[in-house]
Amino acid sequence: MNETLERIKAQALKQIEIASDANSLNDLKVAVLGKKGELTQVLKGMKDVAPEDRPKIGQMVNDARSAIEEKLNKKLEELTKRARSAKLMRETVDVTRPGRRLIQGKRHPNQIALEDLERVFIGMGYEVVSGPEVEYDKYNFELLNIPADHPAKDEQDTFYIQRGKTTEDDILLRTQTSSVQARIMLDAVNPEKERTLPIRVISPGRVFRADEVDATHSPSFHQVEGLVIDKNITMADLKGTLAQFAREFFGEKTKTKFRPHHFPFTEPSAEVDITCFKCGGKGCGVCKGSGWIEILGCGMVRPHVLEMCGIDPEEYSGFAFGIGLERITLLKYEIDDMRLLYENDERFLSQF
Ligand code: DAH
Repeated sequence: MNETLERIKAQALKQIEIASDANSLNDLKVAVLGKKGELTQVLKGMKDVAPEDRPKIGQMVNDARSAIEEKLNKKLEELTKRARSAKLMRETVDVTRPGRRLIQGKRHPNQIALEDLERVFIGMGYEVVSGPEVEYDKYNFELLNIPADHPAKDEQDTFYIQRGKTTEDDILLRTQTSSVQARIMLDAVNPEKERTLPIRVISPGRVFRADEVDATHSPSFHQVEGLVIDKNITMADLKGTLAQFAREFFGEKTKTKFRPHHFPFTEPSAEVDITCFKCGGKGCGVCKGSGWIEILGCGMVRPHVLEMCGIDPEEYSGFAFGIGLERITLLKYEIDDMRLLYENDERFLSQF
């Protein structure tokens, strides 16, 4: 028994000596000192030892245990220290090295212009809403009084996703945010929806047209739709609202001019020009010498459109407008090529 003890102790001490990490030390601890460990086995063999020898053997086992434990703890401490200093070495930072410059992202000019615009309309009590980019013909065309043979419906202008049973069910990429007008009006008269009349919303979003890319065209761009429906809304409300928007967005001195125009869903319809914010109306490169710049289309919602969307035109009237977001962004920041807005060149974006 004596010999066995000596052998266990010598072997354990040697193994501790060569252990290279805390895990193997722990395994060793279990194998020797644990409940089923070698040393514990020796104690279990005591019953075969003569009673007078038991205290001596017991003492020997305890001595072996303490010697092993002590060595184990020392080694563990040493290993922990070594691991720690290795980690510190690895994590050393040379504070004298030059830093790496991080490129900070900026808001896109379109986004800046949109937030400015939203602020103006929210200030006038408007709600900002959105609608789907993939849309039924019904909302994009039919309910807006755009007939089946209208040129805008041609495949040269519109991206179709799927032909439906009737043209109304055709699925397309919306060509204008005006589609949201129809959706909002129908919701306002639908008792199952939360929305009610009156309506005062703007709806910014992406629209799609089968156009070639050039300095002023893109197959995908953004519009901001406006729609107001209430009792006693007149053209004067439309003019006052847009004049106020132009002053707040382009500058206090900006004047507006309404030119008669045609849109299928409004009557009367107009295009709105503003005095050139660059030259103040004298004529310059930005306004191409005319002193005026066109910024949007608008009009009084046609009674027929109100009717199709379930609103009584005898009781309610309203106006609508559609602003090309890229157009006002390019104007506001005097950018002369729309493609710059889509290329995401950091040298361009970092200027805003
Ligand atoms: N949807 C028209 C377009 O894409 C713009 C427009 C004009 C919107 C008049 C309107 C409006 O709401 O009243 O050309």
